[in-house]
Amino acid sequence: MPADFFADISDKGTPPNFFFFDGTTWQGSTTGKTVSVISPIDNTLVGTLPMVSHEEIDRVLATAKLAQPLWEAVPLNKRVGIMHLAADWIRHLQDYLIALLIREVGKSADEAKGEIVRTADLIDYFADEAQSMRGMTLDSDNFPGFEKGRIAVIERVPYGTVLAIAPFNYPVNLTASKIAPALLMGNSVVVKPPTQGGISATHLVRIFEKAGVPAGVITTLTGTGEVIGEYLVPHKDVSMVAFTGNSDTGIGIAGKAAMKPLLFECGGNNPVVVMPDADFAVTVREIIKGAFAYSGQRCTGIKYVLTTPAIREQLVSMLLKTLPEMVHPGDPRSPETKLVGPVISEAAAIRIEEAITTSVKNGAKLVCGGKRTNAMIEPTVLTGVIPSMPIIAKETFGPVVSFVDVSSFDEAVTIINNSSYGLQASIFTKDEGTGLVFAKRLNVGSVQINGSPQRGPDHFPFLGVKHSGVGVQGVRYSLEAVSRLRPVVLNKPQ
Ligand code: G3H
Repeated sequence: MPADFFADISDKGTPPNFFFFDGTTWQGSTTGKTVSVISPIDNTLVGTLPMVSHEEIDRVLATAKLAQPLWEAVPLNKRVGIMHLAADWIRHLQDYLIALLIREVGKSADEAKGEIVRTADLIDYFADEAQSMRGMTLDSDNFPGFEKGRIAVIERVPYGTVLAIAPFNYPVNLTASKIAPALLMGNSVVVKPPTQGGISATHLVRIFEKAGVPAGVITTLTGTGEVIGEYLVPHKDVSMVAFTGNSDTGIGIAGKAAMKPLLFECGGNNPVVVMPDADFAVTVREIIKGAFAYSGQRCTGIKYVLTTPAIREQLVSMLLKTLPEMVHPGDPRSPETKLVGPVISEAAAIRIEEAITTSVKNGAKLVCGGKRTNAMIEPTVLTGVIPSMPIIAKETFGPVVSFVDVSSFDEAVTIINNSSYGLQASIFTKDEGTGLVFAKRLNVGSVQINGSPQRGPDHFPFLGVKHSGVGVQGVRYSLEAVSRLRPVVLNKPQ
């Protein structure tokens, strides 16, 4: 590693005021405005990010537009090599990146390591898979009324400039999951990182540059979503938008994107159905892991459990016994802490606390937890929840699991299908046939049988329906999503 790899990014956490690299030097925003990134762990300043101006956005997008055809012309095998190098750099710098993630978004060391290792593996897998992307040819005479003589040569080509908007909860991984396929397919990329997580994401972009992605092909634009998101999304030089974040923001972006292609992963609010024949010990452990990992701040987190009152009683009693073994709330830097640390900010914690309090006022029963200290929310279990209560009517991105009583399997299916969300759902049963029947009746992206909702393994298709997403991710699907077909038809001269 060159000694100066991160020389202009202080290891004390404050990056310089840069937003793109022109091949020689970092070009800083001249607005003089910055946004502060505060650690959820101890409220200390992690660093500041520049708030770029509209004129600077115009300049960056113009450069990305000019650079894109040159990048597309780079042989695929070279682009693949650059991606593998980026993955190697990530592994090489993993301790640095892990420390940054812990401080910036409050992950535990294990969670942060998981994100970094997974990111390097994902980039490698993308690069390998890109090698097998193929075009095709079609003959005209298959279709009634057509003779032989026309041949469509169908290639996969980039859209142009992809705007990648990533969330705070996986600022490295969910930024890389957009950058790598877009670059491999020949697009230029403009990254709009989250504010919280923006410093980690900016380091990732720097790694892609150091691995050989030329100046202008990849750029970071930082600032608040309201200030630059509004201007960036409808910008004429943005060809496609890849976004992960909450559903309300996604709906807003989709509205502004007009006819641009979208690849969105939005809110989850994922339900679990527990059947009478389920292995309750396994089920309870999966519910705890699914609901409380990274303090419930995963779009694939378990948000509510649908089952009969009798089963709920058994599950809750087992859950209360298992909870202290699997969950130790605390400072994510402490090896004693398991699954639950502070949520991303005190403001987020206040919103979660309000959703709990209002739901309890409306009749939900607090079985455990519910209290807030600064950005910490105690692991919380609620029973007697109904779908209209705020704790599950909207996705609560926090360490809370709600039990909703139902009298039948059909009622559970109706509740799930009536939700505006549709990312994933799980069913726990020893009868896989029941699981398959359940899966076929649900309007959600994926269904898990005897496992909690999750995105990985990352080559599986990952998608949400309704307000949970647009398009399909997962290695090959993402490569397809950031490119389009270009048929060129060879007509036989008459
Ligand atoms: O928060 C959204 C992520 O895509 C969830 O990924 O299931 O691996 O935690 P995960």
